[in-house]
Amino acid sequence: MSGASTAMLRAEAVRKRYGHLDVLNGIDLEVWPGQVMCLLGPSGSGKSTFLRCVNHLEKIDSGRLYVDGHTIGYREQRGKLHELREREICRKRAEIGMVFQRFNLFPHMTALQNVGEAPRRVRRESADRAAAQAKELLEQVGLGAKLHRYPAQLSGGEQQRVAIARAFSNDPAILLADEPTGNLDSRNGGHVFELLLKLNRERATTLLLVTHDHHLAGLADRKISLRDGRVVEDRERGRVGEGETESEAPGLPLSTSLPH
Ligand SMILES: Nc1ncnc2c1ncn2[C@@H]1O[C@H](COP(=O)(O)OP(=O)(O)OP(=O)(O)O)[C@@H](O)[C@H]1O
Ligand SMILES: [Mg+2]
Repeated sequence: MSGASTAMLRAEAVRKRYGHLDVLNGIDLEVWPGQVMCLLGPSGSGKSTFLRCVNHLEKIDSGRLYVDGHTIGYREQRGKLHELREREICRKRAEIGMVFQRFNLFPHMTALQNVGEAPRRVRRESADRAAAQAKELLEQVGLGAKLHRYPAQLSGGEQQRVAIARAFSNDPAILLADEPTGNLDSRNGGHVFELLLKLNRERATTLLLVTHDHHLAGLADRKISLRDGRVVEDRERGRVGEGETESEAPGLPLSTSLPH
């Protein structure tokens, strides 16, 4: 464990550059256990890049990222970071759920196989146990009647539900979702968002969701806006009756946000 307090996700001065393009320009933020946080911002502001850095699909150029107190992709020794080997990175990455905008299901696998795959491969669960857990998850997302359908036989909303069930299959402490409703019409998008909130309530999984939909973002505990790779706004939803509290970055004491 590092001394990175109890934040489920903690970013400290995270910078990322592609060639001459500075994409992340010093991101500082903390997401508390169980919190639902939406990440908003114009196209190109660095939202997807930030998520990809969190699960180490991209390397950061400087700063620190901690998930549940651990540096992702690195081992920290005497203040220096040493990159882990690919196998260790994959194992750590499996502790973080990820949902993509375009579902990314395996087309040759049924819904049940898609959801049971990671527990079998990563956790070495038996085929029977993985299938039983996958069935339960698919029932939770309302697809109990479509366990043996292939992705091509499912609607977009249903495929995204399978992708969500799959992201929860390793029981992650934090789930990252990059525009999980971006490919869906507003009704299906609303259902998928509600589903994520339901799973958050039932499993206390911390959610970091990128969305362009301000209405859906209003249902989250907290909204962060990025612009040019910087946090420009951090809005926390007040408890019922308290309304919203709003502050402007920079200078915002993010670390003083209270855990829920
Ligand atoms: N692999 C890459 N190589 C070079 N530039 C990249 C790469 N990935 C992203 N970029 C650039 O980094 C910037 C941020 O991209 P990113 O995908 O994070 O934006 P975003 O906020 O997710 O946008 P959108 O809302 O359109 O999805 C963009 O200018 C993009 O062109
Ligand atoms: Mg994006």
